[in-house]
Amino acid sequence: MRLTTAGESHGKALVAIIEGLPSHLKVDLEKINEDLAYRQSGFGRGARQKIEKDKAEILTGVRNGETLGSPVTLCIYNKDYANWSACMSDGACDTDIMEKKKLTKVRPGHADLTGVIKFAQSDARNILERASARETAIRVAAGGVYKQYLSALGVEIGGFVKEVCGVKDTGVYAFDELKKAKTTQVGMMDETADALAVERISALKKEGDTAGGVVELRVKGLKSGFGSMMTYAEKLDARLAQGLMSIQAIKGVEIGDGFRAAASSGKSVHDEIFADNKGGFYRATNRAGGIEGGMSNGEELVLKVAMKPIPTLMKGLKTVDYATGAEATAASERSDVCAIFALEIIAEAVVAQVLATVVSERLGGDTMQEACERYNRLP
Ligand SMILES: Cc1cc2nc3c(=O)[nH]c(=O)nc-3n(C[C@H](O)[C@H](O)[C@H](O)COP(=O)(O)O)c2cc1C
Repeated sequence: MRLTTAGESHGKALVAIIEGLPSHLKVDLEKINEDLAYRQSGFGRGARQKIEKDKAEILTGVRNGETLGSPVTLCIYNKDYANWSACMSDGACDTDIMEKKKLTKVRPGHADLTGVIKFAQSDARNILERASARETAIRVAAGGVYKQYLSALGVEIGGFVKEVCGVKDTGVYAFDELKKAKTTQVGMMDETADALAVERISALKKEGDTAGGVVELRVKGLKSGFGSMMTYAEKLDARLAQGLMSIQAIKGVEIGDGFRAAASSGKSVHDEIFADNKGGFYRATNRAGGIEGGMSNGEELVLKVAMKPIPTLMKGLKTVDYATGAEATAASERSDVCAIFALEIIAEAVVAQVLATVVSERLGGDTMQEACERYNRLP
């Protein structure tokens, strides 16, 4: 399976092409659009989320609600393009409007400065339009398709917000409880912590400042043996980390106990193995987060992702004007104060993409029936 995404933040549309899906996968567009609505929700989001109200369309590869086995193309039209067509058109643009929208006070924490130098641009808009996390909308839509493939095999993904700028949800939650996180303001399970996080974000907003946070992701139902220790490129933990690190603003990925394990002794970290009475094996603990030797071991996958604070501050940071070299205050287009709630659903989508790809490499199958039969035969 292969995913390609394309599109600029204020361009006509965002597009994704997924190659390699088997035939007869039932695709529920409403579920995909539900995920897109979650991506636009959560306390601390900026004005753009009110303009867009994203809806995905399926352009190819699905007929009568089922995949055909051909590439599936998804599209989200940018409603805001109506306000930007004069300076974002593929044809000749209005030079006055282009000048007005030009960004040269390059923003720290963004691709702006390195991007203009690398791609020989004088306007950082030619960089930020693609670097923007607006791209995650189409990854969430594609992730919706991947989730439906995994779900047909009995693999489900969930998660919650664990931390926002120092406010922590320290609870331990069963996978089936995690749906609640999609109903709270910031995405935490513990409502007291969630309310504190809202207060923290509001205080930061007043100061013209921003927040990041930590999301925990969990995967239930993944059988053992996905990924491989045979080559570095096949390791499941490495592939998940690569996928998650590709999300804008992600600066850390932990598998299982991660950094905490490094600070503990072996006795309190490794999961001892026991035989059950049906000829199988189990572990009484899951500090490894469901992956050993680069392979799923049959336990729940437990991953954490760390998001840095949003880099566009309303009280702009010090920078230089790239056009003149003079000292300047960084440009501050309308922006989120905290997007951690959105990160949870984006990270679910990325985990789904990686897992569906890894699973399909092992199972193959031209049809969903073949894929399901092969999955069900595995120990
Ligand atoms: C869901 C989401 C929303 C974001 N919203 C904003 C935003 O409104 N303003 C901003 O400056 N950065 C925002 N970011 C972060 C930037 O996209 C990101 O920091 C930037 O592209 C630089 O990439 P890097 O942090 O991975 O180096 C957001 C990130 C995500 C995942």
